[in-house]
Amino acid sequence: MKILDVPCSYGKHVIMLASKHNCDIFGIDINHIEIDVARYRAEHELDVNEKPLKLKKKPKFMAADMRNFSDILNNFDLIYNWFWSFGYFGDEEDKKVLKEFYNALKPNGILLIHTITKENIMPDYITDWKREILPLKIKGKGYPGGILHFTKVFNPEKSTLHTTWIVMLNNGIILPEHPVVSSVRMYSIDEYISMLKQTGFRKIEVHDSYYPITIFKARK
Ligand SMILES: C[S@@+](CC[C@H](N)C(=O)[O-])C[C@H]1O[C@@H](n2cnc3c(N)ncnc32)[C@H](O)[C@@H]1O
Repeated sequence: MKILDVPCSYGKHVIMLASKHNCDIFGIDINHIEIDVARYRAEHELDVNEKPLKLKKKPKFMAADMRNFSDILNNFDLIYNWFWSFGYFGDEEDKKVLKEFYNALKPNGILLIHTITKENIMPDYITDWKREILPLKIKGKGYPGGILHFTKVFNPEKSTLHTTWIVMLNNGIILPEHPVVSSVRMYSIDEYISMLKQTGFRKIEVHDSYYPITIFKARK
């Protein structure tokens, strides 16, 4: 099989899959730093904790925008969009992302979207916490520990969830990709189904995962 993880971040799912299956696995993400780390770990056969992990076949990583990649990467049997990684760009561009997924699949290929829907979020949902981060190694380089400050606030009128991440290391440095602020559109299950159908997908299935995640499965 030829498989694509989009967006793959540091490649944790790609690397885990590559340790179990002898497939052509690709990961793309817009963040060059994350792609660099993923590539480094694949090359050196390291898991997310930078512990040795034997890979059946080395996966490939590329920095790319999920709104525009199907001209160069396509013919996939399976594309997965994991861990709440859809709804970043507004209604019209989000549909373009689905079209890219569609174009990058082989006929009969499968798309999986693992997400949170509007039904799974309370109107007054808010999260605000700080957590200590232990010292870590990225790409063989050590980082001191620090504090992660994480907030999520739901706006029921716009059906958007605003998230901020700030990682302040003990040496006063904010990690290069932080602070990150994002606004994610929470679509309802019906909205997902309708967008998938409009894009041309068929055989759409809706599955529960561990709460509050929903998984959509669709075929080209
Ligand atoms: C919530 S993370 C999930 C990553 C991964 N699926 C996982 O489970 O770890 C969302 C990712 O989307 C990436 N991203 C944001 N905008 C993107 C875009 N236009 N194209 C590709 N990746 C993008 C971010 O860099 C981030 O790594």
